[in-house]
Amino acid sequence: MTTDRIFTVENVTLRFGGVVSLNDVNLFQNRGEILAVIGPNGAGKTSLFNSLTGVYQPQEGEITFMGRDAKPMSIIGRKAHRVSSAGVARTFQASRMFSALTAFENVKIGAESHKGFGVVGAMLKGPRTRRNEKESDATTIRLMDFVGLRQKANVIAASLSYGDRRRLEIARGLATNPEVLLLDEPAAGTNPAEKLGLATLIRRVRDEMGVSILLIEHDMKLVMSLAERLYVLNFGSVIADGTPAEIRANPAVIEAYLGSSADETEELA
Ligand SMILES: Nc1ncnc2c1ncn2[C@@H]1O[C@H](COP(=O)(O)OP(=O)(O)O)[C@@H](O)[C@H]1O
Ligand SMILES: [Mg+2]
Repeated sequence: MTTDRIFTVENVTLRFGGVVSLNDVNLFQNRGEILAVIGPNGAGKTSLFNSLTGVYQPQEGEITFMGRDAKPMSIIGRKAHRVSSAGVARTFQASRMFSALTAFENVKIGAESHKGFGVVGAMLKGPRTRRNEKESDATTIRLMDFVGLRQKANVIAASLSYGDRRRLEIARGLATNPEVLLLDEPAAGTNPAEKLGLATLIRRVRDEMGVSILLIEHDMKLVMSLAERLYVLNFGSVIADGTPAEIRANPAVIEAYLGSSADETEELA
């Protein structure tokens, strides 16, 4: 059987002193899939993202990323910037933008860091740099358009609404020309209308750009409408996986959410 898996996680265990953040985790993502990871607070979701992006180094197991060149790349032990240039982009749970820069500048930084002619190149401004800069500008404008922020390109990032900031982060992730985009709670802090807009945007990133999506999201309505398949983490372990319908009906999942917060259980129902 030939399955095209972009990520394969095998027997991954990550510890911080006595805390086991990921406990013998096994999962995979098919190329082109919108996949979600859900679970109560502290379940290990962000730790998983950090392990997939080379930020955390699990003590045990294997993580394999299959990039454009179809050559498997082992992630554990690899530096975060190497993982990023191989085609793995992410957004963060807490917004990490340059809030004093404009929306345009934030996205352009993503485009330039990807090409590796950042700050020094920009200062030298040779003919090659100028050509590269034009390219970055064009990429940036195209992406601002795609995420619906073209009209706000010159607005200082700090003064954008939550929903627009989330869009901006997605544009910045896309500026590195990724194969897969990891979104850590992309709708956090947004209102219902913004949530709907973000869901549409995330689906378009996959459908129109062919970028695989790996999503952490607390809003059950959003995640169940967007994800094609989900994994459920609880105390660092995968306790369930399946389609939204399978996950909703899974007693272990309901139990895990019951144990943590009644709010989330209501949303799950
Ligand atoms: N850098 C770290 N140092 C120590 N403990 C950590 C670190 N990162 C995560 N953890 C611990 O790992 C567990 C899972 O955290 P996290 O991955 O942030 O969960 P989630 O994103 O699902 O809320 C928590 O107990 C957390 O305190
Ligand atoms: Mg988290």
